[in-house]
Amino acid sequence: MFKDNKFIKNLLFNSWNFVLTLAASYFAITIPVLLLFHIESYSIFENLNLIAYSIYILDIPINLLKYKYSENEFVFEEKLTQSKYLKSWFILDLIAVIPFGAIFAIPFLQHIRLIKLIKVAYLMRVFRQRELQYSNIISIIFFLFWIAHFAHWLACGWLSLRGTDFNLSFIDNYVKSLYWTVTTITTVGYGDITPNSTWQTLYALLVEIIGVGAYGYLIGKLASHMNKRDPAKNMYLTNLENLSTLVKLRKVPKQLQKRMHEYYAYSYRQKHGFDESRFLEGLPESLSMDLSISLKKDAIEKIPLFENQDEEFLVEVAMHLKPTIATPGDYVFKEGDEGKNVYFLISGELEVLSGSDEKIVSILKAGDFFGEIALFRNVPRTASVKATTYCDLYSLSKARFDYVLNKYPGIKQTIEKVTISRVGNESQIDKS
Ligand code: CMP
Repeated sequence: MFKDNKFIKNLLFNSWNFVLTLAASYFAITIPVLLLFHIESYSIFENLNLIAYSIYILDIPINLLKYKYSENEFVFEEKLTQSKYLKSWFILDLIAVIPFGAIFAIPFLQHIRLIKLIKVAYLMRVFRQRELQYSNIISIIFFLFWIAHFAHWLACGWLSLRGTDFNLSFIDNYVKSLYWTVTTITTVGYGDITPNSTWQTLYALLVEIIGVGAYGYLIGKLASHMNKRDPAKNMYLTNLENLSTLVKLRKVPKQLQKRMHEYYAYSYRQKHGFDESRFLEGLPESLSMDLSISLKKDAIEKIPLFENQDEEFLVEVAMHLKPTIATPGDYVFKEGDEGKNVYFLISGELEVLSGSDEKIVSILKAGDFFGEIALFRNVPRTASVKATTYCDLYSLSKARFDYVLNKYPGIKQTIEKVTISRVGNESQIDKS
């Protein structure tokens, strides 16, 4: 089962990591508190200790199992195998289960169990890097997890420096100390609880410094999260700002402004605002090809010409298809222009206009291609093509088109048939 089903395997291991995090968090919270207030006899803690301790012990065989079947599981780290695990994390896992406090009869040594938090931090990092889609929000949640633990430890430290107030209950003492820590960490600092010894003052200084760092980090993370949330929207807003600057500095006719605005809005709605070609450029060729095909797959499937073509063909074409948009009223090109590209219409509608009176000779719909005649026959454009709605198009350069036709005679024949059905045979075209 483990070998075959990667999804279930990941789900199981992620669930286990979650359980482990809960156990580590439980020890991280209770060990300092129980020692501080000398609490030993609550049976609830005894039971919970036993459960958390069993989880720590079970973690070792589970890890051995996990690393036996890990197949490129840790994409961001060197792949861990069972023997590598035994030389690395296993040592930490083992230290965390040895009851040093009981062996040496020094209760404070129980804190050694918190060493497991290093592994929790590592697992969190791996999880965050794997779940790229939500990595920002995940890092904020993890940050809150750590800051809550730090606040707790700092509150325990503050309490041990000041000593407990015997007139107050254990809960009241803790809450008061936590209140001081949180107000100090968040830089609110009401000043109603103040240090009254040099050590306390130094401690307060330390907490204040940690507070400023943590606060700055959180605000920075939140700001970057908000900023990265929708890159396409950011691009749209930047384009609008640029347009508004251009309009202020130079004279741009109202109608043209409106068309530009509409273009940006459409581009944003279709999620084209985010430039995918930037990603393709930075990748090695094979990855760039696969990504290119994956991004264009839906669009390519809508083009009947590409139906039933093999993978090799799709690779050769998809890599070179360039997305463009035409807004209503735009000419993709005009009659008599030099032919540089052939076009594939993914969505929208275009008119083919002929002659000086722009007679509509045909309406092109999603899945159609056009602009092939000029390339095929080495003549200027035989007609103008104008968008009547918003159109998503892919263009293919003349050089690539020629290459594809030479390599795939079947495609050439199909295109020729369509061309002849549009404008007749070669001699007729040459005459025109
Ligand atoms: P090209 O001549 O390169 O540029 C104009 C394009 O319009 C042309 O290629 C064909 O793709 C297309 N076209 C021309 N005439 C017709 C027609 N009668 N029906 C459909 N499409 C046409």
